[in-house]
Amino acid sequence: MDKKRIAILGSTGSVGTQALDVAAGHPDRLHVECLAAGRNVDLLAEQAERWQPSVVSVGTEQDAAELRRRLEPGGTRVVWGAEGLREISLHSNVDTVLNAVVGAAGLAVTYDAVTAGKQVALANKESLVMAGELIMAAARRHEADVLPVDSEPNALHQCLRGEHISNVRRLILTASGGPFRTWPQERLAEVTPEEALNHPTWLMGQRITIDSATLMNKGFEIIEAYWLFGVPLEAIEVVVHPQSAVHSLVEFSDGSLVAQVGPTDMRIPIQYALSYPERWKSVVEYLQVPASSPWDFEPSGGDRFVALDLARQALRAGGTAPAVLNAADEVAVAAFLERELRFDQITSVVADVLEEVPTTSADSIESILEADAAARRAAQARVVK
Ligand SMILES: NC(=O)c1ccc[n+]([C@@H]2O[C@H](COP(=O)([O-])OP(=O)(O)OC[C@H]3O[C@@H](n4cnc5c(N)ncnc54)[C@H](OP(=O)(O)O)[C@@H]3O)[C@@H](O)[C@H]2O)c1
Repeated sequence: MDKKRIAILGSTGSVGTQALDVAAGHPDRLHVECLAAGRNVDLLAEQAERWQPSVVSVGTEQDAAELRRRLEPGGTRVVWGAEGLREISLHSNVDTVLNAVVGAAGLAVTYDAVTAGKQVALANKESLVMAGELIMAAARRHEADVLPVDSEPNALHQCLRGEHISNVRRLILTASGGPFRTWPQERLAEVTPEEALNHPTWLMGQRITIDSATLMNKGFEIIEAYWLFGVPLEAIEVVVHPQSAVHSLVEFSDGSLVAQVGPTDMRIPIQYALSYPERWKSVVEYLQVPASSPWDFEPSGGDRFVALDLARQALRAGGTAPAVLNAADEVAVAAFLERELRFDQITSVVADVLEEVPTTSADSIESILEADAAARRAAQARVVK
């Protein structure tokens, strides 16, 4: 059997390490061709020893020199920085690029990989938030699959397999509601980074965990689903489902609702994207049905869900507005983690920056990155004040 040759970008992070678990569970089907990370040279060196990839990329030239010292000479090639990521995403031996880099740093890689006609397993939702139109148009032109790894869009992808999008009435994204779902609004000003990092159902990297607590993550998923599936924004809804067992649902015009249900474990959607269009044996425990606790569903809306409104506002404004949304949020979340901003100020900074930074046409990656930089400056100015 031919093995699928994969590149894992962001291999030292939460999604990246779980992707390597999936690869370890399927040695006859997956070959790890390339790995890339940012600053965690120790873990990347360990991964390179274990997987013997042909190329690894790390954040800086200095770290690349350090990595070369640690690896066997003549084996893995070490590259670095944005050029290193680019080399891997275009590598001729790679069939599937798993992009699990966090933040705007993952944008160019997604664009390069789809332009090269690669299958892209996309965890880096920021790519679609910032440049959904450009990326999906390039994917169509180059016949590249974009497979969402993010569990809720992944669930929608599963529900929509073999269906005509014209028969879809609603896409229903589920949201756990985060750790503060039952807190009174006025207590949100006191939330500490430690409390916000304690997600009730998922163990994830820092940025997405804070975004889940503010619900900006769900706003990003609305934008992601909009570009992936091509339905009107009004047809995308969010319901709160605290148990995170039903990962999303699709309502069809004939009144049928199809849901994807599974363990709260990212290795399920990661494997789905890596095995697509096949399905392989799970590397995690199967879900017991019926569940031992009930599954609840509540409507979303009101003050708590301001982040969803901001995401919809940015998508309606179009052009570079969603990239501004993402950049402002990235700065505000980092400032909150540094205790320079209160939890309840994250979405206010994002709202202010969306108002301030003019929306321009998102017709190239360069114009999107310019808007990203302008939004970062505007957000930073608000943090310092
Ligand atoms: N975690 C989840 O369960 C989950 C679920 C759905 C979607 N996602 C999405 O998946 C992406 C990754 O999330 P995560 O939770 O895995 O984040 P994470 O644990 O913070 O990991 C981020 C990864 O990106 C790498 N990285 C950061 N900047 C980089 C750069 N400039 N160049 C190369 N690599 C860089 C990091 O490397 P170093 O650590 O070596 O610096 C790390 O390997 C995000 O877009 C997130 O929204 C995650």
